[in-house]
Amino acid sequence: MEYAENILGTIGNTPLVRINKLTEGIDALVLAKYETFNPGNSVKDRMAVKMIEDAEAAGLLKPGGTIIEGTSGNTGMGLALAAIVKGYRMICVMADKQSKEKIDILRAVGSEVVVCPTDVAPDDPQSYYSTSKRLSEETPNSWYVNQYDNLSNTKAHYESTGPEIWRQTDGKVTHFVVGVGTGGTISGVGKYLKEQNPNVKVWGIDTYGSVFKKYHETGIFDEKEIYPYVTEGIGEDILPKNVDFGIIDGFTKVTDKDAAVYTQRLAKEEGMFLGNSAGAAIKGLLQLKEHFKKDDVVVILFHDHGSRYVGKMFNDDWMRKMGYIE
Ligand SMILES: Cc1ncc(COP(=O)(O)O)c(C=O)c1O
Repeated sequence: MEYAENILGTIGNTPLVRINKLTEGIDALVLAKYETFNPGNSVKDRMAVKMIEDAEAAGLLKPGGTIIEGTSGNTGMGLALAAIVKGYRMICVMADKQSKEKIDILRAVGSEVVVCPTDVAPDDPQSYYSTSKRLSEETPNSWYVNQYDNLSNTKAHYESTGPEIWRQTDGKVTHFVVGVGTGGTISGVGKYLKEQNPNVKVWGIDTYGSVFKKYHETGIFDEKEIYPYVTEGIGEDILPKNVDFGIIDGFTKVTDKDAAVYTQRLAKEEGMFLGNSAGAAIKGLLQLKEHFKKDDVVVILFHDHGSRYVGKMFNDDWMRKMGYIE
């Protein structure tokens, strides 16, 4: 018999899938690391379990404890699944710009959800960063995950996602392209791939309204770069410890409109029903196309599933209201 001991045993070993139509005109082989095959439908299951297991081992998370996290949804889903299997209480703190589906899904898997305003500074007491910290101070026997600065996040990708990509491409991967939020995915995968072959190039996808690209290019944390944006999952108004800028060769920024339009195009032209950061990532890859040569193998990682965006990027009324389609 072949079975997993519980749902957490099905995390990882996701497929690599060729992108065929949207990459027309690019001679390189472009392969998607298709992370929606994880049980929580996102790459974040990997780091959620790793962060919990490392916290258990360090004695930070104890039996009967409460896990608290500020999350745009996917990390919360991974944490919630692990909390169910391992018997913890889960509280997710979210910003109100996140899609309603994400909130409903977290509640469906037993998480308590606290919603905070998006348009406040990170140090504002109402922000989702501050609220998560406050709740963790007020709740007895609780552990605040802090996916931004918890380096078990990067380690999960160094130990699983990176080696999978290396093995699946038979060591032929030449470029890795991925959206950057907490930075765990790009830093862990990038570090592993560069250790195998220092010539692998690692590109981050950023969004307008985020500080990453300018900080990488100039070393300046420019508050003037920060403004509210629509794209979900990538870009930040802080510098998380999980972003290892030394591993990253460059960033390209994608507009909210392009990210939304390409989220639809991936579904309609490739049959890839994916989240908003996948649209940003594939558009960013196209912006970088002069970097890819004929025999290159470019791996792009797609973080999450389209079902979380049916009220937004997959809703043409919303797309028209935003001015993204005619
Ligand atoms: C949909 C989505 N895309 C991209 C990212 C960015 O990944 P990372 O946090 O590993 O940089 C996230 C993380 O929150 C996400 O939820």
